[in-house]
Amino acid sequence: MENLKEEKLTSQDLINIAIEQTKKSYSPYSNFEVGCALQTKNGNIYTGSNIENAAFSPTLCAERVAIAAAVHNGEKEFKAIAIAGFKKGEEKGHTFPCGVCRQTLAEFCDKDFKLIIAKNKNGEHTEHTFEELFPHSFGKNNL
Ligand code: THU
Repeated sequence: MENLKEEKLTSQDLINIAIEQTKKSYSPYSNFEVGCALQTKNGNIYTGSNIENAAFSPTLCAERVAIAAAVHNGEKEFKAIAIAGFKKGEEKGHTFPCGVCRQTLAEFCDKDFKLIIAKNKNGEHTEHTFEELFPHSFGKNNL
């Protein structure tokens, strides 16, 4: 777990951290390297990268690694996540969270939670709200 306390990080800073985290990806099966930086409402940053498995289904996405690290450390209120995913050796890629990660984020994120998605390793990116990516989600308010 990496814990970078810094409240004034910009989207550009977060995306640069996410790109750096792709280097920690364990992805010998897909050769697809994902890194992320999850910012909590009180300014902590939890990072993650994807961790694959020979049996495939136990594979963890980068986002869920970071969410697990945050929640394990008592943090459940999230402000933003930056995600960078590229095929190994490539400079471009625009990787959005998979459905399982969107559902996992739904447990902790408001509609205005910000997703910052890298377009390339230079740090160009797009920004989205959680509502835009996962409308009509099922969550604790439905139970
Ligand atoms: N992956 C992530 O880590 N996050 C995503 O949002 C999309 C997919 C990983 C899972 C797997 O290790 C590899 O990318 C290819 O699907």
